[in-house]
Amino acid sequence: MKQFDYLVLGSGIAGLTFALSVAPRGRVAIVTKKDRAESNTNYAQGGIASVTSKEDSFELHVRDTLTSGAGLCKEKVVRTIVEEGPARIQELINLGMKFSERDAPNEDGGKELDLGREGGHSKRRILHAKDVTGHEIESALLNAISRQPNISIFENHLAIDLITSRKVGLKDGNRCLGAYVFDKNNSRVETFSASVTLLATGGCGKVYLYTTNPDIATGDGVAMAYRAGASIANMEFVQFHPTCLYHPKAKSFLISEAVRGEGGVLKSLDGREFMDGCHAMKSLAPRDIVARAIDSEMKKSGADCVLLDITHKPAKFIIERFPNIYQTCLRYGIDITKEPIPVVPAAHYQCGGVVTNVDGETDISGLFAVGEVACTGLHGANRLASNSLLEALVCAHRAAEKILSVPLEKIDAKIPLWQSGNATNADELVVVSHNWDEIRRLMWDYVGIVRTNKRLQRAQKRIANLQEEIHDYYWNFIVTGDLLELRNIATVAELIVNCALKRPESRGLNYNLDFPNSNPEWSQRDSVLRK
Ligand code: FAD
Ligand code: SIN
Repeated sequence: MKQFDYLVLGSGIAGLTFALSVAPRGRVAIVTKKDRAESNTNYAQGGIASVTSKEDSFELHVRDTLTSGAGLCKEKVVRTIVEEGPARIQELINLGMKFSERDAPNEDGGKELDLGREGGHSKRRILHAKDVTGHEIESALLNAISRQPNISIFENHLAIDLITSRKVGLKDGNRCLGAYVFDKNNSRVETFSASVTLLATGGCGKVYLYTTNPDIATGDGVAMAYRAGASIANMEFVQFHPTCLYHPKAKSFLISEAVRGEGGVLKSLDGREFMDGCHAMKSLAPRDIVARAIDSEMKKSGADCVLLDITHKPAKFIIERFPNIYQTCLRYGIDITKEPIPVVPAAHYQCGGVVTNVDGETDISGLFAVGEVACTGLHGANRLASNSLLEALVCAHRAAEKILSVPLEKIDAKIPLWQSGNATNADELVVVSHNWDEIRRLMWDYVGIVRTNKRLQRAQKRIANLQEEIHDYYWNFIVTGDLLELRNIATVAELIVNCALKRPESRGLNYNLDFPNSNPEWSQRDSVLRK
């Protein structure tokens, strides 16, 4: 048994920010399932939305967030996160994060941050480090972590399940006591106990066949919290990013919305600017609208992709502003300064998740959730671009403050060690890989950008069958990383489908042809599921 004061599951922006904030007051374990930097955070391109310019205001950022969220955001939460953003960003800068600056000096001759623009934003307000913002943030945070003697990082450790008082048969409500963790280095299950456990496990893009997310994004946090009895909400709102690179050899490479923010235009294969008739903001409309327009354009024309054209901008500007996108596309034989980029929508962001307040508190005591895994009410039915890094920063800080404001409750419960029972080594691993593929394809085909009740019900039935098979497999065979993740993507797929079936309307990212309009009765109503 490993004992800590704070157990942090995940090493993206949420987990690392929290760990740094609590480390001066106790021993922290960061458990992360691959290499420490491997996270959605590390691949973020566009940047962090926050009000830093004189032409902008908190009021405008709040308004843009609420508009994008299509009537489902919690305004108080939006205001808190928007207003606390600048202070948290300053702390990130103090840690060593370097955001891109404008070439031209300001009126006083000083340096000014270069602000990008993305879909749904009425002003330039995205702080960025060229087009590799996430990588720079992750590096700055990991650097700071390496200077903290109170923090231990456990890489290649995959959290299996939360340990709760209810699960281990104690009668003091439902309190989180830690987690069982699969050490992939030696295929052993370890028991971590802690006074506070933070879920910072990110999103679930891998539930879909096509995604911008790296392999870690299998919705483990939501699945673990659901199994432990926490409330999960709004899982139907899966955000599809409109522009993922379409190339047979490219896996999950995003073409940042900032490309459209700098003038990139969406076109059909025959050169028509099809966003013109869809929205006043054209190619820079909110993401749900752009992704649906691309989906409809591809279905109408039978084309495999659409085009994103920025060739009208000077080559020097494109190469300096988007060096990563330029170089990556060039490796695939596409010179974006001379030819349009083939793009398709792909699953990108989980707007719903484990229900929390703005301090990251869940309805299980001792369990907090921050970042993409959480559903705070900031994003509503459709997240505004670049608001997620902001949410993770602000809420991780608030969660730490909340926890540090009261004395730490020591865990003295007897926690049983992991039991593998009569489990043996599986002889047919093809079952695991087949079920992985089946779930991801059925989610793409039946629970994608445009839904119908018939397709959702079909998906529900298939997932129920798969769940049964996975359940048998899980209890009979010794666990592996692939099996544990399969169990989680099946649970998350079920939650997405069940939330979508609960909502008899189209709103934001949940577009259902059987209910093509929003229903005012469902405004401000979350779809909440609890085991
Ligand atoms: P993550 O950064 O995803 O970290 C999750 C961590 O949990 C990882 O370390 C992972 O290994 C670990 N983990 C998961 N499951 C387990 C488990 N069972 N056991 C142990 N560890 C586990 N947002 C913006 O605001 N601006 C952007 O410009 C932007 N660009 C993006 C570009 C791309 C390509 C992608 C994929 C996302 C982008 N996003 C952007 C979204 C944003 O990056 C994420 O929402 C945010 O980084 C999530 O941070 P997080 O700390 O919650 O999770
Ligand atoms: C992007 O760079 O387009 C991603 C921004 C985001 O997901 O917020």
